[in-house]
Parts: sequence; C-alpha cells; structure tokens
Amino acid sequence: MLTLEKVSKTYNVGEMQVEALKDVSLTVNEADFISIMGPSGSGKSTLLHLMGALDVPSSGHVCLEGKDLSTLKESELTVIRRTQIGFVFQAFNVVPQLTALENVELPLRPHRLPTSEKQKRAEELLEKVGLSARMNHLPRQLSGGEIQRVAVARALVNRPKIVLADEPTGELDSKTSLQLVELMKKMKEETHTAFVIVTHDFALGKKAERKLELIDGTLKEKGD
Ligand SMILES: Nc1ncnc2c1ncn2[C@@H]1O[C@H](COP(=O)(O)OP(=O)(O)O)[C@@H](O)[C@H]1O
Ligand SMILES: [Mg+2]
Repeated sequence: MLTLEKVSKTYNVGEMQVEALKDVSLTVNEADFISIMGPSGSGKSTLLHLMGALDVPSSGHVCLEGKDLSTLKESELTVIRRTQIGFVFQAFNVVPQLTALENVELPLRPHRLPTSEKQKRAEELLEKVGLSARMNHLPRQLSGGEIQRVAVARALVNRPKIVLADEPTGELDSKTSLQLVELMKKMKEETHTAFVIVTHDFALGKKAERKLELIDGTLKEKGD
C-alpha cells in the first residue's frame, strides 16, 4: 500500500549537510501495526513526514497505492493528506477552543457530507475510544491520555488507509502510554487501518506486531 524505496533525506544547514535518512526501504500493508523505535535525532520524524507526503525525499521513491508521490501535484498531495492519511502527534494535537466532538469533526469540514453524518461519524469514533461521556468537554477539561484518544479518533474520522503517529505517548506516563497503544491496536483491528508509530520508548514499541529500529538514519528489523 505505502512503499519506500531506497529513500534518503539530506538537510542542508548552511555549509553543513545532515543525512537524516539513508537508503530506507519499507512496505506498509493494510492492517499493519508497526513501531519504529530510535533515539532522538535518529530520523523518526523525518521518516514520518516523508510517509505522510509532508516532505519530499532527496533521493528514492515514496509510493502510495503504486503512485509515486513525487509525480503528483501539490493539489493532489493535499487531497491524499486529507483523505488517505491520519496524523497523531505528541502534543498540540487538538484545538483548545473546540470540544472533543468538534475536534474529531474538524478533518471532515472540507468534505461534502451532511452535518448530521459528520457528527454521527465523530460520535461513533469517540464512543469507540471510550470517550462517549466526554464529547462536549474542552481539551483543558480532559486528561493527557484522553486528549490523545481524541487525537486518535480524529486521525481515523476520514477513514484513512494509514495512521502515522509521531511520539503519540511522549507526554504520557507509562501506564497511560500502554493503554493508548492498546487502544490503537483495537482501532486497527476494527478499521483495518495500518498504524505506524514512531517512538523513542522501547517499552511501547515492543507492543507492536512488527518492530523496526532506526539508528542514525538507517532502518532495520528489530528482533525481540
Ligand atoms: N528541517 C531540518 N533542517 C535541518 N536539519 C533537520 C531538520 N529536521 C531534522 N533535522 C536533523 O535531522 C536529524 C533527524 O531529525 P528527526 O527526524 O527530527 O529525528 P527524531 O524525530 O528521531 O528525533 C537530526 O540530526 C536533526 O537535527
Ligand atoms: Mg521526532
């Protein structure tokens, strides 16, 4: 579904070149649940940005459903980001002025769906992530773990093919982190959406079905 072929990414910073990713190849299939572990600076965010069509590689190819993203126009990439990919980040995930329900509905705004349908979809997802009693709460009335559950619901509301999560538990304690991973697994089972989670937390990464490790920009399978 999503493939990376010998992807490299080099950032130019003044005279300096930073090789953030080196020859990374990876295939993500439907209903995969993948963790990519690595320390800070190993290239995790760079990799997710390339997978999510938020940035372009210096060399190599990123293909979604057989289409090389580098051949697409910006308007086509915008549609892909909006319809095929869901994002979950560590923080700043939700809009503070909007309720949980409004946050989950947000990605549906550009879509031509009846308002009642948008609300129904958002409510169903909030129920699935265990927040039916919190739909009208503002983020400041929710715990960190609940906010990330809202973020997971929001990432799924467009029924994407893949959810990309960048350190989604970075602000959570270890128990809440593990609960969030279990929730993402449950959502994967129910929706068959693939999940790719990058994290520096090995305890968390271990919970994935396929475990990869990123070391200084090089990706490899990780044994147990
Ligand atoms: N926009 C950028 N410009 C220059 N260097 C960058 C940029 N983004 C990341 N880097 C560098 O690339 C390397 C990988 O960064 P990143 O992908 O953010 O790693 P991680 O998410 O694993 O912490 C780091 O050395 C970082 O300093
Ligand atoms: Mg990062």
